[in-house]
Amino acid sequence: MGATGSIGDSTLQVIAANPDDFTVSAVTAGNNIERLAEICHRFQPKFAAIADEASYNDFKSAVASLDIETACGEAGVLAAAAYPTDRVMAAITGFSGLKPTITALQNCSIVMLANKECLVAAGSLFMDIAAQHNTTVLPVDSEHNALHQLLVSKSVEDVRHLTLTASGGPFLNLPLVQLAEVTPEMAVKHPVWSMGEKISIDSATMLNKGLELIEAQHLFSVSADKLKVLIHPQSIIHGLVTMHDGSVMAHMGTPDMQIPIAYCLGWPERLKADIAALDLAAEGELSFLAPDFNRYPCLELAYEALNAGQGVQTVMNAANEIAVEAFRKAQIGFNDIAGLIRATMDKMTDADISCLADVYEVDQAARRQAFDRIPL
Ligand SMILES: NC(=O)c1ccc[n+]([C@@H]2O[C@H](COP(=O)([O-])OP(=O)(O)OC[C@H]3O[C@@H](n4cnc5c(N)ncnc54)[C@H](OP(=O)(O)O)[C@@H]3O)[C@@H](O)[C@H]2O)c1
Repeated sequence: MGATGSIGDSTLQVIAANPDDFTVSAVTAGNNIERLAEICHRFQPKFAAIADEASYNDFKSAVASLDIETACGEAGVLAAAAYPTDRVMAAITGFSGLKPTITALQNCSIVMLANKECLVAAGSLFMDIAAQHNTTVLPVDSEHNALHQLLVSKSVEDVRHLTLTASGGPFLNLPLVQLAEVTPEMAVKHPVWSMGEKISIDSATMLNKGLELIEAQHLFSVSADKLKVLIHPQSIIHGLVTMHDGSVMAHMGTPDMQIPIAYCLGWPERLKADIAALDLAAEGELSFLAPDFNRYPCLELAYEALNAGQGVQTVMNAANEIAVEAFRKAQIGFNDIAGLIRATMDKMTDADISCLADVYEVDQAARRQAFDRIPL
């Protein structure tokens, strides 16, 4: 799911490198007909769905020569999510990935989760559905994937804290006064990772690391006080586990999403991925620093949401999606992203969530609140 995106592309590269181990059964996209059709011709899935109904006829024409079932709209994407298969890659971006990912949890025994927003928005309700259906959720996010590997045969009770590393994004060293002038083009140019636009902007504000803190809280069932963030510009160490006895274990790898994806596709075995080995001598130095909330106010907001609970987490996620979209359209400035999220969170402190219907309701209400604050 999200086959035409950055994670989708990396997943298909790992599959292409392991043709004896995998076939692709179903694929989905938002509206990128050309790329989805190209994927269908190359990987020959049995089912393909495009969310954008207006693109459907063109898509059908583009795959007319293939033996493939097609569908469109939300129902089409959900049908793809329920298509019989051994594992699903959940890599649709944002809240729009929630319903399809839940459908995958209900229909497939292994879900590889890249879409962190759906876990931030639905938290323990999401994990409960996985548990009810006996579905294994494997984290694709490199930091959580690292922690997942480090925590094998360890109990979180024995852990003093878990550390997520962060590159610091493109503006780590930009003078603070210049942040107000940052453009969307500058914000999407990540210094280390090659990713979709939304997550690249989230990395620039470091709200991405905030989403990841909340993702880690739900994935690993740890309390907020056990979660830390460390800036590590080279992105070689992805996660650290500090035990009560003082031992610290780190997971390393070159910053390439094919590595955690290969781990998820192979789990519990290890695949032979054709990825250049980590060369620490060539790397030379690894550096670390604490995040500065003056530079990254969105990270401070995320810590607040982490401690506040599900309602505020859902609100923060929705407000961020609206803010990032407004920034991309140059309707607000870079520094306004945090302000818009702050104002929405302040307005909705009593957001309460006890079931999935509440998640959708709170998400919509937060979107309206945030949207109303965008200057026309
Ligand atoms: N990229 C990374 O390195 C990375 C790392 C860790 C986690 N993640 C997470 O993985 C997810 C995907 O990130 P990405 O970087 O791959 O994003 P991306 O490049 O923007 O790709 C997003 C995918 O979702 C599809 N999509 C968008 N809206 C949709 C909708 N309403 N219904 C169905 N499909 C829709 C897109 O289709 P179209 O192409 O047709 O628009 C595309 O296939 C995000 O949640 C991100 O936070 C990404």
